[in-house]
Amino acid sequence: MARYEIVGGAQLNGSVTISGAKNAAVAILPAALLVNGVCRIENVPDISDVRILVEILRGLGAEVTQPETDVIIIDARNIHTTEPEAALVKKMRASYYLMGALLGRFGNCHVALPGGCSFATRPIDQHIKGFKALGANVEETEEYVALNPGENGLAGNRVCLDMASVGATANIMMAGVLLEGQTIIENAAKEPHIVDLANFLNTMGAHISGAGTDTVKIRGVQSLQGGTYTIIPDQIEAGTYMAAVAAAGGNVLVKNVIPKHMDCITSKLEEMGAEVTAYDDAIRIRSTGKLTATTVKTRPYPGFPTDMQAQICVCMTLAEGLSRLTESVYETRFFGYCTELESMGAKINIVGKTAEVTGREKLKGTTVIARDLRAGAALVIAGLCAEGTTKVENIHFVERGYQNIVEKLTSLGATIRRVDD
Ligand code: EPZ
Repeated sequence: MARYEIVGGAQLNGSVTISGAKNAAVAILPAALLVNGVCRIENVPDISDVRILVEILRGLGAEVTQPETDVIIIDARNIHTTEPEAALVKKMRASYYLMGALLGRFGNCHVALPGGCSFATRPIDQHIKGFKALGANVEETEEYVALNPGENGLAGNRVCLDMASVGATANIMMAGVLLEGQTIIENAAKEPHIVDLANFLNTMGAHISGAGTDTVKIRGVQSLQGGTYTIIPDQIEAGTYMAAVAAAGGNVLVKNVIPKHMDCITSKLEEMGAEVTAYDDAIRIRSTGKLTATTVKTRPYPGFPTDMQAQICVCMTLAEGLSRLTESVYETRFFGYCTELESMGAKINIVGKTAEVTGREKLKGTTVIARDLRAGAALVIAGLCAEGTTKVENIHFVERGYQNIVEKLTSLGATIRRVDD
């Protein structure tokens, strides 16, 4: 199994360019199945989740080419099946987006239940609730979900989500764009990648309004044509590098970001003592590496993102004083990495949904295991700050969501290498 070997202690200096948003790309690529034409999608991150999706789309009959590393062209005019290859589907969580896209375009699908990060139970009951509201018959087993038109056929309808689910909002949006009538999603997720998906679909001819608010309206159209779309930058990748600089110290210009998407992350790192300057499409962060404790509560966007929980926790393990980190989206997310940080000398006490983190002078390098994507990224940050060498195992998790992380960190002065056993 591959691992990263990191020698800690160096500050990070220079500039890093952020790639396209993973959670936008894994929704927009399946959404191209809704288009009876050719979509040119730019600023696509070169990560394993995208590579898996490309294989899935090809297996369905789409013609997919990649003229440049970050450009993918999808021609979905000749799809010949609505049953994606189960072995590939099981490799990633975002495969559930194939359900909404195939149901929306073809009125049916048979999709294996997805895999992905296992830091929490990842139900899809809200997705199913939405498909049923649109008139679908749902057959759900331990292995797969099969959707077909119900006796009254498929049509737009109102769906009120029990919680602001990102996946369910995106899936129902995709299922509704080609349906007769109007679909209204209430208590919708407001994440930047939801807005990005809506903008992509509207670029191809859909009529979606309200994305980014808690009520999204989709007026069905006959068909979607092709076009070109550029994916937004990844605010979680950007936040991850910002947390690394805050913890390790240094002065880095983080390029290709939308500062507005980073507001909560920026304000928390400033509270801890980092100096942040925002420009039109870049953010500069400076830190001595000496941080002070703070309190964070994760919330759906525009709150502090749950996907930054592990990374800010590393900053807290080195911040003077007692920090409190409360998780509101995935209660068991702490268990993916806190034990590993404690093996490096961190002092973390988990009480219910809150981790109480007592800052320490130093972390010590050792061998740690990544158990999910963001936990793995946090362990890399810990290794950058620790005394000695840290070996991070199971790095396939990290490479699902961070393009060229070794090259990007090395260019900032870190000592990190990928070792394939
Ligand atoms: C998306 O997951 C992201 N994944 C996650 O990012 C992110 O952590 C999450 O949104 C929250 O922002 C992708 O976009 C591929 P949810 P998703 O539906 O769609 C519960 C990463 O690190 N829920 O918003 O699965 C659920 O259990 C990954 O990039 C239901 O109960 O998240 C959770 O507690 C990790 N029933 C909460 O809602 C449902 O049908 C939010 O989940 C759906 C969700």
